[in-house]
Amino acid sequence: MKNLVIFYSLEGNTKLIADAIVKKTKADVLELKPKKKYHNSGFKKYFWGGRSVLFKEKPELLSYDINVEDYDNIFIGTPIWVGTYAPPYNTFLSQEDICNKNIYLFACHGGGGADKFYKNIKEVIPKNNFKGEIDFKDPLEQGKEEVLDKINTWLNNVYLNS
Ligand SMILES: Cc1cc2nc3c(=O)[nH]c(=O)nc-3n(C[C@H](O)[C@H](O)[C@H](O)COP(=O)(O)O)c2cc1C
Repeated sequence: MKNLVIFYSLEGNTKLIADAIVKKTKADVLELKPKKKYHNSGFKKYFWGGRSVLFKEKPELLSYDINVEDYDNIFIGTPIWVGTYAPPYNTFLSQEDICNKNIYLFACHGGGGADKFYKNIKEVIPKNNFKGEIDFKDPLEQGKEEVLDKINTWLNNVYLNS
């Protein structure tokens, strides 16, 4: 079984979780990188990021050489932006046809919104087996051990036992 971790991260929280999953599952990794980076501080971060969600933008992504078809288990991670996945996924999901995969969802947020992300992504790529989901509140601000424990416990439950 081949594993792939896909993620977008503006400020490193989702990357922290992605890196831990990659290490534990020996997955290949695909980081979604918009050609034009989003602002990552202050008011502009929320303004332009929020606007991008509301206008359903599809920011152009840097090219990648991963073929999603090659994988059985796919972990999909995002920061929550305005209650859902970040816009780089609008682009990615419109250019990939993801089906018949085992999908594991992970999200980082400042307080909530993961449930809507789970619901929305399941509507966009419905023909898959959704095996697990987990969310973290700004994990860079939490204790590292605690975060790693939470990831490992989750993986033991949903991935290693599946
Ligand atoms: C444009 C924008 C919108 C956001 N909207 C939400 C939100 O609706 N709910 C929430 O809990 N956090 C929200 N956040 C906070 C991020 O989801 C949170 O800080 C996350 O851990 C950042 O992950 P990253 O470091 O991988 O980018 C938002 C952040 C940005 C930049």
